[in-house]
Amino acid sequence: MRRFAGTLRKGWQTGICVWNMNIPNHVAIILDGNGRWAKAKGMPRTYGHTKGCDNLEKICYVARDVGIKYLTVYAFSTENWKRSPDEVNALLRLFRRYLKKCIKSSEENQMRVKVIGDTTAFEPDLQESIRRLEDFSKDYDRLYFQIALNYGSRDEMTRAVGRLARDMKDGRIEGPVTEEMIGSYLDTAGVPDPDLLIRTSGEQRLSNFLLWQLAYTEFYFTPVAWPDFHKKELLEAIRQYNDRDRRYGGVKE
Ligand code: FPP
Repeated sequence: MRRFAGTLRKGWQTGICVWNMNIPNHVAIILDGNGRWAKAKGMPRTYGHTKGCDNLEKICYVARDVGIKYLTVYAFSTENWKRSPDEVNALLRLFRRYLKKCIKSSEENQMRVKVIGDTTAFEPDLQESIRRLEDFSKDYDRLYFQIALNYGSRDEMTRAVGRLARDMKDGRIEGPVTEEMIGSYLDTAGVPDPDLLIRTSGEQRLSNFLLWQLAYTEFYFTPVAWPDFHKKELLEAIRQYNDRDRRYGGVKE
């Protein structure tokens, strides 16, 4: 069990004491509710995405401060292309801006950034921004931040199985196929499975996110929309995670 190991900077303001809490090694978040949050304020959905983006930047600092080692967020799914062209274009513009700004926050957070998903669907300049950010941050190790863009778990598994089958046919690997082997072909290869999954905004489903990796993950659903999910809400999720009894299919005496 890993105890809180970060600084206590601003830690007490939330009313939740992180001291002596078991901090999940890997937290995954489905960033949901931007559109409804904006609509409730009489604003366009894209305003919600912009605020969601600002919040993501802040949550990375919080994650670093409390000692989370891996953070994975679902920002754009393989199904999100079905949205209106206006909304998709606004999201792509936001990603472009965010990936550039993220260079600075990766340095400040000593945060390694990796994008998971099929990025070949993006325009070359966006792919280049992704490469630049991944390359710039590759030696940082305080926080490992994965952003899922054009990500779908079934698509990830399909791509993985395709590559695995090709490698086996070409003699680069030998059978039998094991769980570890499959894991090493996924976009998340080398990253431990999430301990805690958070979905904001009241929906209680996985929406094709990390289906393989979440096999033994604890789930936390909150009605709070993503733009309003701040440090206090994250610490509450971690507090509730501390009350869970993780048995991984076994029995505790
Ligand atoms: C789901 O909420 C959210 C998205 C499809 C986009 C999430 C994107 C961000 C938070 C922008 C920042 C991310 C990066 C990596 C720059 P929704 O808009 O579907 O909300 P709704 O369910 O209320 O419609």
